Parts: sequence; C-alpha cells; structure tokens
Amino acid sequence: MRLDKFVGQCTDYSRSQIHQAVKAGRISVNGLIAKKADLQLDGTESVLLGDQLIALQPLRYLMLHKPLGYICANRDAAHPVVIDLLALPKKQELQIVGRLDIDTTGLVLLTDDGQWNHRITSPRHECPKTYLVTTANPITADTAALFAAGVQLHGEKAPTRPAQLEQISSHLARLCIHEGKYHQVKRMFAAVGNHVVALHREAIGNIQLDAQLAEGEYRPLTHDEIQSIN
Ligand code: URA
Repeated sequence: MRLDKFVGQCTDYSRSQIHQAVKAGRISVNGLIAKKADLQLDGTESVLLGDQLIALQPLRYLMLHKPLGYICANRDAAHPVVIDLLALPKKQELQIVGRLDIDTTGLVLLTDDGQWNHRITSPRHECPKTYLVTTANPITADTAALFAAGVQLHGEKAPTRPAQLEQISSHLARLCIHEGKYHQVKRMFAAVGNHVVALHREAIGNIQLDAQLAEGEYRPLTHDEIQSIN
C-alpha cells in the first residue's frame, strides 16, 4: 500500500494534509524520514506521524437495532439516518449492509469490510434474511405454498426465489427470503392480496438481532457472528 493511503486510513488526515506532513518531514518509516508520499509499504514497517506510531484500524462489524423513522443511508436531507445513532469515529466510512425501509425496524449490520458486505448482499450468495411480518388481512392458508413456489412481482423478470413462511397467528408470520429486491417483503404480500402493516428484521444468516439491544442501540459483532457469514 502507498504511504499516503496508509496514513489516510490510519488517521483523519486529508490527502493534502498528508502531503504537507511529508513535505515538512513529519512522517518517518522505519526511523527514516519519508521523502515521498507514494512510497510503497509492505505492511511490516513502523510508521510515525510526528512522534505517534500509527497503525491501521481493525475492520469494524456492528449490529444495530433500527428504530422506525430512520433511513438506512449515510446522510439524508429530510430524515434521520442510522449512522446518526452511532457514537464512533469515522462512522461515515461504515457501509450499511442491505437496507431496511424507513418504517421497518430490526437488525441492520454495518461494516467497513467490503468483501464481507458483498457476501451478504450479493444475490449469488443467497444469504437468508428473516422478518417478522404483521399484515392488514388474515394470512390465507395458501400463502406459504405460494411463497415457497415463488411469486411474480410487478416489474420483475423472474418470480421470487423460494421463501419460507411460518404462520404464527392470523395476522403474524415469520418469513425467510434469500434475496433482497426493493421492498421485497411488502411486494410479496401485495402479490397475494395482503398488505404489510409492520415489518421487523430478526436475522441475517445466522446473526440474530440481540434481544438485549433496545431500538437505537448497537454493539460489535462477536468473532463467531462475523465468521458465520461465508
Ligand atoms: N422488505 C421490505 O419490503 N422492506 C424492508 O425494509 C425489508 C424487506
């Protein structure tokens, strides 16, 4: 990795501040003052900025209990965003792993590990997502079979992939889907003549929303939770 990129990832310094620091002789690599910002590092060097040793931050993996009314975005002009709920440095660098609608609550994952994010969101990986769904009308007896077979959503080329519906009561069910089309759960219920009135994400893969987290709270994922995505 280039020295300027490394310093940028380890600190809040902008590109121009890094270049100024190099010019001013404030950055040293293995005890020698760095003369060029594009110096190639192999990752074993010790890099000092002034008299501070700097190192890459470990990748971050978080789960958040999303409340109603928040948008899954890094910023928005009209609404609060889930990133506002985090009290963390460099929080704007976190990626939101798959989005929930403003009126959906529940599990949101955040990370700065792009490959891990991709393993969850890429359609090829078919990572399961589990939702608790409350409907306006009673859930009909054929809904589970229709979802298992796949339903045709308006404007989509192919029907939805097989999804598993577990009915809990007349208006409440748990639905597991293996893809993430826009408003997918709401559109699936609309396709069978029903209407979703409340939606809550309980799990992504084997990662369950921690029952200890109140709405708006978050915590780092455990090692096992991170490893469970593969
Ligand atoms: N499906 C929806 O319709 N909305 C969500 O927020 C998530 C899945």
